[in-house]
Amino acid sequence: MTTAGQPRKLRVGIIISGGGSNMAALVAATKRADFPAEAVLVLSNRADAGGLAKATAAGVPAVVISHKGFPDRERFEMALHAELVRHGVELVCLAGFMRLLTPWFIGQWKNRMINIHPSLLPAYPGLHTHARALRDGVKLAGCTVHFVREEMDTGPVVAQAAVPVLAGDTPDGLAARVLAAEHRLYPHALDLVASGRTRIVTREDGGEQVEILGEAAPPAAMIWPRTA
Ligand code: GRF
Repeated sequence: MTTAGQPRKLRVGIIISGGGSNMAALVAATKRADFPAEAVLVLSNRADAGGLAKATAAGVPAVVISHKGFPDRERFEMALHAELVRHGVELVCLAGFMRLLTPWFIGQWKNRMINIHPSLLPAYPGLHTHARALRDGVKLAGCTVHFVREEMDTGPVVAQAAVPVLAGDTPDGLAARVLAAEHRLYPHALDLVASGRTRIVTREDGGEQVEILGEAAPPAAMIWPRTA
């Protein structure tokens, strides 16, 4: 508890490369008095990231560490890590960060780093998720928040949102619909993690899964498409 009697909030650092709309959704959620996390730092590897101005406007320190200023990936990541530590960050949220991370950095933040990916993982890891989903003719797309493991877009899943694919969808149209879901999902997932309601368990077959304490009874299955 703090001196004011409020529970202490988890200190979160958000790493971006671009527009930062997910970062802005996270920051907006952390402004709620009852939210269990506070955003203490936004880091970007690009000076032209649109998210930097959004972070500053929201009163969150925004720092640029360009990967181009370092001879290799490890030294870039050491600088990122040092900045996170300097701000007392306890949990890292990757939000549209477009650099691959080394096992060293991932190890430093094991079980303390989450990412959002615009597909229902393990389907469609990597880039161009929406174009690939449309090409395959799937009826549900979506997004995933997961703890970060060494292989790209893998790691125990915290939460997912399913989004219908509509007739005539383009990759951009589907991306916009999924992005709107991301803005709801990521704050929800951060709330679950920061409030201590997630537990990573290793199954007998070696797979990892996240148990959610207090998981509610599920709604009915989402069936899509429907007809009138
Ligand atoms: C999002 O779709 C996110 O899932 C992906 O990159 C995009 C970032 O968008 N990793 P923004 O920078 O949060 O607006």
